[in-house]
Amino acid sequence: MSTWHPLSFRDFPISQAVQYPDTEALEATLTRLRELPPLVTSWEVERLRGHIAEAQEGKRFILMGGDCAETIADCQPEAISNKMKILLQMSLVLVHSTMKPVVRVGRMAGQYAKPRSKAWEVRGEQKLPNYFGDLVNRSEYTPESRKFDPSLMLAGYHHAAMTLNFVRSLTDSGFADLHHPENWDLSFFDEADLSEELRAEYHQSGADLSRALRFMEALGELSIDDLTRVDFYTCHEGLNLHYESAQTHTVPRREGHYLLTTHLPWIGERTRQLDRAHVEFFRGINNPVGVKVGPTATVEDVVGLSEALNPNDAPGKLVLISRMGKANVREKLRPLLESVRDSGRKVLWVVDPMHGNTQMAESGFKTRNFDDICDEIAWTIDAHAEAGTTLGGVHLELTGEDVTECTGGAAGITDADLATNYATACDPRLNYRQALEIAFLLGRRMRADQSAT
Ligand code: PEP
Ligand code: CO
Repeated sequence: MSTWHPLSFRDFPISQAVQYPDTEALEATLTRLRELPPLVTSWEVERLRGHIAEAQEGKRFILMGGDCAETIADCQPEAISNKMKILLQMSLVLVHSTMKPVVRVGRMAGQYAKPRSKAWEVRGEQKLPNYFGDLVNRSEYTPESRKFDPSLMLAGYHHAAMTLNFVRSLTDSGFADLHHPENWDLSFFDEADLSEELRAEYHQSGADLSRALRFMEALGELSIDDLTRVDFYTCHEGLNLHYESAQTHTVPRREGHYLLTTHLPWIGERTRQLDRAHVEFFRGINNPVGVKVGPTATVEDVVGLSEALNPNDAPGKLVLISRMGKANVREKLRPLLESVRDSGRKVLWVVDPMHGNTQMAESGFKTRNFDDICDEIAWTIDAHAEAGTTLGGVHLELTGEDVTECTGGAAGITDADLATNYATACDPRLNYRQALEIAFLLGRRMRADQSAT
């Protein structure tokens, strides 16, 4: 294998390539990006790797979630804090039902680049490049907006920094203090038409957790800080390798390179080919790395990916995110789980029950059905039970807002309701209530499995 360096990916064919017409402007932007301070630190990255290693042993659960596509326009305090609140609430539900620590990883502070199934968008006589996310081009359908513009990498970096700054201030200032789960209630939580049962179950989880914390403190076994600190990590798809590579550095007193735009980057379903640029780039960094694994993935693909991205079989390094779709999960997932199990290699299996279940509604909106999402989760857990492997996390597209993008759930959103508040910049997200319901359903299922063993 050739020598790796942060730009060695340029010698490989790039899927979903972001080709900037103005190479001088590209290089000038990259030079500036290289000089700017990192968004995350190697300590945080290593800490998350430690958590993932524990999740691989079944001692933790990873909750990944956030927008399909973050936008620069949505870099606003309420949108950010509502997303954090729903992730915190979901994690509380999962901690309460599984009694396992839950690691929260937001699809936030950098989820600005999107792979597209079509490179071009045609409207009438006009054909323009598709919108690849705010890190690459702009969504308005004009030739000017759709140009690939390197300066958007700097805009993305700045907005990711502002988002992270706010996230860090909130987590440091007691917003996420586990003693006060009432702080995490979304402002509309009380008015929402949440079923009495769900509301009561959620408040009970919060009250139980606060009591348990006071009990532990009273015993004096653990420091208050250890008990109550809520870690919050970030993840995004590492699609635009120019951007990621410019923030990939060595750091003092540690070996190797760290990608410092995010804690946990992942390689998408469309860019995970073994002989192409994304695998080349991500094989060289110390961060944990996720890979989406869809229904076309073969046994050779997943074992090959685990060898390429984690040649030393290090713990906490590789996260395989299955996204088979309800129709495929029963048939396709089990052979992959078994082949990785038989290879003896360390991976963390996470389920993304969103991306294999996207449909076009009659109303013309891209949507996902709540029951399909739940079925994929349940059937993924079944497949793990049959293969003797462990599901260590879930990866969801969700928002803290009251959107109408996915149908079904107790909210009873129908096709006809989708137009009411369809706000996503890309794929349909669970709204706060559907997300919380998923946490309860998943938590119940995991608790039932724990007590059965
Ligand atoms: C995504 O996570 O938004 C995405 C595009 O996923 P996938 O690569 O699994 O299609
Ligand atoms: Co998506």
